[in-house]
Amino acid sequence: MRIDILSLFPQIATASLAESIIGRAQQRALVEIHSHNIRDWATDKHRTTDDTPYGGGQGMVMKCEPIFEAVSALRTEGCRVLFMTPAGAPFEQKTAQRFASDCKHLILLCGHYEGVDQRVVDQLVHEEISIGDYVLTNGVIAAVVVVDAIVRLLPEVLGDAASAVEESFATGLLEFPQYTRPVEFQGLRVPEILLGGNHAAISQWRREQALAKTQTTRPDLLA
Ligand code: ADE
Repeated sequence: MRIDILSLFPQIATASLAESIIGRAQQRALVEIHSHNIRDWATDKHRTTDDTPYGGGQGMVMKCEPIFEAVSALRTEGCRVLFMTPAGAPFEQKTAQRFASDCKHLILLCGHYEGVDQRVVDQLVHEEISIGDYVLTNGVIAAVVVVDAIVRLLPEVLGDAASAVEESFATGLLEFPQYTRPVEFQGLRVPEILLGGNHAAISQWRREQALAKTQTTRPDLLA
């Protein structure tokens, strides 16, 4: 898979995605990620990327020209252009799974200021994506979240294939609690059932715990 991120702060994405599992996935050539500055496609003397809104109002709007140039330069046949915006469709585990399995090339366009010129959205964007009902200073932060959630699902990225299957959301439930050594810490003991080696009983207990956790924290998932 190839991923291009278009923003005004490309270092935020480059730095965040260079670490840990996603960093190693890039080194192992399991994914190719390029973070670009939209300003590089601005052609006027001051390399302008934003301007005041028609009709008046607060803030600035990102201009069409550099974004059209950037997307034309980067897009390939069959690629999907995603626009990161709080006004988008909610990004969920199933969205990440769809992109991981169906797409060879993604372009993530990241807004800043009050938004982008609507002609960009109408002409270039396939899907508008929100990572939650809150407003970030910059869509590139949301893009990092989306890229992380997708890339960890790509073949061979996670060491243990089972770890992506059992985790929260993949099963429709939140995760059961986990414990490791020591068996007693500051008087707090690990639940006895986990120490007995009865795998059927442990599975049953974990499922009950996952159900109870989901019921208290996210009853909407059970409905
Ligand atoms: N840009 C600003 N806030 C955002 C959000 N919640 N999701 C996606 N992009 C954003």
